Amino acid sequence: NKSQAWSARFSEPVSDLVKRYTASVGFDQRMAAFDIQGSLAHADMLAAVGVISAADLADIQRGMAQILEEIRAGDFTWSLDLEDVHLNIEKRLVELIGDAGKRLHTGRSRNDQVATDIRLWLRHEIDLAIGLLGQLRQRLAALALEHADTILPGFTHLQVAQPVTFGHHLLAYAEMFGRDAERLADCRRRTNRLPLGAAALAGTSYPIDRERVARTLGFDEVCRNSLDAVSDRDFAIEFCAAAALVMTHISRLSEELVLWMSPRVGFIDLADRFCTGSSIMPQKKNPDVPELARGKTGRVHGHLVALLTLMKGQPLAYNKDNQEDKEGLFDTADTIRDTLTIFADMIGGVRVKADAMRAAALQGYATATDLADYLVKRGVPFRDAHETVALAVRSCEERGCDLADLSLDELRGFHADIQDDVFQVLTLEGSVAARKHIGGTAPERVRIEARRILDESGHG
Ligand code: ARG
Repeated sequence: NKSQAWSARFSEPVSDLVKRYTASVGFDQRMAAFDIQGSLAHADMLAAVGVISAADLADIQRGMAQILEEIRAGDFTWSLDLEDVHLNIEKRLVELIGDAGKRLHTGRSRNDQVATDIRLWLRHEIDLAIGLLGQLRQRLAALALEHADTILPGFTHLQVAQPVTFGHHLLAYAEMFGRDAERLADCRRRTNRLPLGAAALAGTSYPIDRERVARTLGFDEVCRNSLDAVSDRDFAIEFCAAAALVMTHISRLSEELVLWMSPRVGFIDLADRFCTGSSIMPQKKNPDVPELARGKTGRVHGHLVALLTLMKGQPLAYNKDNQEDKEGLFDTADTIRDTLTIFADMIGGVRVKADAMRAAALQGYATATDLADYLVKRGVPFRDAHETVALAVRSCEERGCDLADLSLDELRGFHADIQDDVFQVLTLEGSVAARKHIGGTAPERVRIEARRILDESGHG
């Protein structure tokens, strides 16, 4: 089969099924622009060190420009016979420019070529994801600023614990997504290294200038070992791990959005464009988008495990196993990109039902801890204060009222040190306002933190 790049060595063609089984062009063609970018940097270096002529370089540049145009216009014919994106582009280059095209692959292998393509592609995706995380944090911070004073019950064990501000609750997610962005930035440092020059596995005997190629492609460093450069995909695994955490955070937020939108809770409403109806129940408005995001978390977690497993049994150096790195990696990047884009928009469209939140915070003795702290400030040991308030809560339960509904005399029946200033701490507003330290739920603190995040946008 003359169309295959290594055909001279073989006496019989592969079956159609094996051809389809081994080909990657169906999915790796999405790296075409990066493949061309890498090839141009390689050709530029080959010309600079005198391995190819300036005329060859000019031909390669002209041919690649045309190929890029054909691909962008959808006019490029991808062939399964040519296995992958690399061979498809190289074949077309030879068709267009002849011998100069055949010289491009000098001192290079598809092994270092594909490793370079993935890194260039992934670097681009990482930058997009970091940008989208920043945008989502902006939306969370904007909504938090709007709701710095809105109070809802904070939960532990899904039982009412203490009042918190809704702004504070939202900013918890802004923190998570901030760390996700840090993780991606860290992973970018190790992704941004140049494998090209490793050739198949052992390097090459041509007088190559790897640092020049690294500079041309914007890599910070050159991979220091050729065997490692062509074979490891740990940078991709790191990306998948960071993405798995992004989705874990998205999934937690989704769970809360779904819960908050349940009529039994009724804290928020999502804009109609993120919900769907039911084909049978006319009254339904379902929070499909957060539910689906919670579900898509599963596949992103799965891709991480798949990549780890793909890598674990491979001897040095390159093995074809590595072709299996791409689909999961691509899907991971696509999933977090779409999810983060949609969530930024969805958070902007959350309708907050502050009255329902407040009503819920008034149930469940959310300020019981404040009453205990009040007694402690008057010299009562915390454990005794805890016991005293537990008795008061029990008595309220029996009467079906709240702590703040008790009269001063009734409260003093539980502890003689209680004065009429106690009612300030029994209010929701008093409770949250008191927690104004760094990291606390007080409205004034939420405003400081939200503005800090909103200010970040100006500096990228
Ligand atoms: N399509 C291959 C991959 O994705 C490119 C490298 C192939 N190299 C090889 N020696 N077969 O990994």
